[in-house]
Parts: sequence; C-alpha cells; structure tokens
Amino acid sequence: MELRFRTATRADNGFFREMEFETTWFSLSSADQARLSERKVRRALDDTHEILLARPGNRVVIAETPEGDPVGLLWYGVSRNLISGEDEAWIYNLSVLPAFRRQGIGRRLLDHAESLARQDGHAVLGLMVSQHNVGARQLYEELGFETTNLVMRRVLQPGGSEAS
Ligand SMILES: CC(C)(COP(=O)(O)OP(=O)(O)OC[C@H]1O[C@@H](n2cnc3c(N)ncnc32)[C@H](O)[C@@H]1OP(=O)(O)O)[C@@H](O)C(=O)NCCC(=O)NCCS
Repeated sequence: MELRFRTATRADNGFFREMEFETTWFSLSSADQARLSERKVRRALDDTHEILLARPGNRVVIAETPEGDPVGLLWYGVSRNLISGEDEAWIYNLSVLPAFRRQGIGRRLLDHAESLARQDGHAVLGLMVSQHNVGARQLYEELGFETTNLVMRRVLQPGGSEAS
C-alpha cells in the first residue's frame, strides 16, 4: 500500500488525541475500565500529553494515504530507564486505524522508529504494551523486542486487605 510519513502538525491534534484515547482505553485491564470513566481517561491523557510532549526529542509521525488521509500514528520520544538510569528511545504510541490493520503499516512505523533511534544515537528502543494486547505483542516479538520487566499492579478493593 502506498503511504507517506510526515511529521504531525497542529491540524492532526484531533486524530492524535482520538488514536491516543483508543489505544489507551484498549490497553486498560477490564478492572481499570470498570473503575475509570472514558471522560476521566481523556482528561488524564490531556494532562499527560502536556507534560510528555513538552520534553525534547519527541516526534509524532503520521502515516497517510496519497490522498492525505491519516491512517496510522507513531509517537516516538525519549524515556529514562529507571533501572539502568539510561535514556532510551521510546515508542509512546503506535496505532493504525482498524480498517487499515494487517497491511504492514505498523511494521513500517516501527522500522521508522528504529531509524529515528539510530539517528539519535540510542542503544535501545523500548515500549510498554499491555499483557492482553496479543496482536501488538506478536508484532513486537517478530521484530526482536523482548520482555525485560513486568509491571505488576493490584486494584485495591475498598475497605479490605485481600492479600495475606
Ligand atoms: C498493533 C498495531 C499497531 C499493529 O498494526 P498493523 O498495521 O495491523 O500491523 P502490521 O500489519 O504491520 O502487522 C505485521 C505483523 O504483526 C503481527 N500482527 C499484527 N497484528 C496482529 C494481530 N492482531 N494478531 C496477531 N498478529 C498480529 C502479524 O505477524 C503481522 O503480519 P501478518 O499480517 O503478515 O500476519 C494495530 O493492531 C493497532 O493499532 N492496534 C491498536 C493500538 C495498539 O494496541 N497499539 C499498540 C500499543 S503498545
């Protein structure tokens, strides 16, 4: 499929926010979805965007058709690895519109992220993915990404201690 990649502009804000919301909501566990409202998540995302996008090194890349319709998004940046203390290239978001999935766009955006990371002189490219996101994990594993750390969380039920 013919595609071009370009840097996002202010005009892509609606597309960016919608893709961010869809990916975030899908990435939540069912327990978190039950606890949180869509409105709350959208508001929290707006705050997060303000903080993260202000950091240097961010690039938001839009994949679009020759007609100029956006179909995919890569948000690339830098993140401090809290274990090694090193700054690493980081994929904050990778999303493709449902109608355009399984056509190689996600893989091409990941290749693009790798090129950016190499250009920036990073030794590592990382990302975070939900355990239940089997499709994305499959794609990442095919491209050589390995699980190095697991985030473990427990939703605390009001008024009780479930673990003993
Ligand atoms: C994950 C995502 C970006 C993949 O984009 P995509 O354009 O469909 O991926 P590609 O077409 O490049 O897939 C390449 C390969 O990855 C694997 N893959 C991708 N999606 C898969 C799925 N749902 N199930 C199993 N394997 C999958 C396949 O091996 C695929 O090759 P194939 O189609 O020849 O079998 C897309 O599914 C998406 O936007 N999901 C919702 C947002 C999201 O979860 N993003 C990741 C956040 S960490």
